[in-house]
Amino acid sequence: MSDTEAGNGRRSSLHGFWSSKLAFILAVTGSAVGLGNIWKFPYVAGENGGGAFVLIYLLCVFAIGLPIMMSETLLGRRGRRNPVASMALLGEEEGRGSWWQVVGFSGVLAGFFILSFYSVIAGWVFAYVGKSVSGAFVGADAAIVKDVFGGIAGSWVATAGWHTVFMLVTVVVVARGVERGLEQAVTLMVPALIGILLVLLGYSAATGEFEMGVRFLFEPDWSKVSGTTVLAALGQAFFTLSIGMGCVMAYGAYLPQETSIPATATAVVCADTAVAILSGLVIFPIVFANGLDPMAGPGLIFEALPLSFGNMAGGVVFGTLFFLLVGFAALTSAISLMEPAVAWWVESRGATRARASITIGLIIWALGFLSVFSFNLLADYTFLNGTFMDNFDYLTSNIMLPLGGLLITVFCGWFMSENSVTDELNVGTGRLYRTWRFLTRYIAPVAVIFVFLNAVGWLDWLSAAAA
Ligand code: PHE
Repeated sequence: MSDTEAGNGRRSSLHGFWSSKLAFILAVTGSAVGLGNIWKFPYVAGENGGGAFVLIYLLCVFAIGLPIMMSETLLGRRGRRNPVASMALLGEEEGRGSWWQVVGFSGVLAGFFILSFYSVIAGWVFAYVGKSVSGAFVGADAAIVKDVFGGIAGSWVATAGWHTVFMLVTVVVVARGVERGLEQAVTLMVPALIGILLVLLGYSAATGEFEMGVRFLFEPDWSKVSGTTVLAALGQAFFTLSIGMGCVMAYGAYLPQETSIPATATAVVCADTAVAILSGLVIFPIVFANGLDPMAGPGLIFEALPLSFGNMAGGVVFGTLFFLLVGFAALTSAISLMEPAVAWWVESRGATRARASITIGLIIWALGFLSVFSFNLLADYTFLNGTFMDNFDYLTSNIMLPLGGLLITVFCGWFMSENSVTDELNVGTGRLYRTWRFLTRYIAPVAVIFVFLNAVGWLDWLSAAAA
């Protein structure tokens, strides 16, 4: 971002601008591509029976996620402030009241919750870099990888230690404001990640139960689909695209006025989807070939991937590189999770970036202990949806982000004047605009509401009442 480069927008950014359109794409791609693609997508797909879940997920990504990502960027760029202040300002400006800032606050809060468990998983990824280098997986079988994973996850000290390391690195990066260097590194990271995934794909295809894996991922068994499956797919779409919590809005605030929002959003969504699908294609053939349980939950990739690294030529090198890249992808997502809170804190309290990052980082780090303990001390302590971590995950992915997204698309589609929208979107009023507007006004909000009602069983109730 450079402070000198003025956008030709109606409002100048409080924090300067991205130096180029590419910088923005890279930043949002860095945010989107992360543990959500490599760690969460396979395990949530596994828990939800594969095929049908994946198709619904893809539908959610393109029909709901993409238009919401555009809306969120548009709001950020128009507000040019942190998400809380942007929503307050735009609400006032459109004559709808400043209460729209709740969207921003909910995003700040969601960022706290998500990062608190995200950091725990990312910590394990860091730990696995070490394990790979030391050759812990060489020749490993299913029992050995389970042991290694259990050794780390089952020890609260080890898990807390790595969580601390990851939060420290994140805070240092955010505090020093060196994101720009990281964004450039995304240019290398994403292609490298895709490259390694392709190598792994070759391995999975050659030695794993590839056909079974592909079938599991793409052959829908609609009888297994329930309201909760659909909600899980929607939640995963929001989580993986980083939308509904103000993070894209915060980044959009630094976007130069002339950049095309549809083009950038589409690029990000496609890159993100490619990584997730590849990851699934790599994991499941290994899972089936080694008798692992696709429903293994958060530990799935930590058990499946070392099996291939441990038994392929050059596995130590590939494994190390892979976990390094995933750790890096997690870092670029983590800094984006802190951005709404940090920008808000800085703007509203006049704090320095460093101070704001340290304070916020400390709160998130402390909160993270509930997720650390979810795999050891408190593993048996479950309520609502499971452990503390399960609940943070469910609350954010399946409730807060879709609700935030719903408000964002309703605001853009129904409460903003068409003039403001076309002025900001800047793509004229042709087909592209009309498609976006239709998705934003009707499809996205109706779909989100529908999925919510369906998940709590109201649709069944309504259809029974109607019959
Ligand atoms: N999209 C990130 C990932 O897939 C996680 C994330 C969620 C980041 C929400 C920012 C906001 O790993």
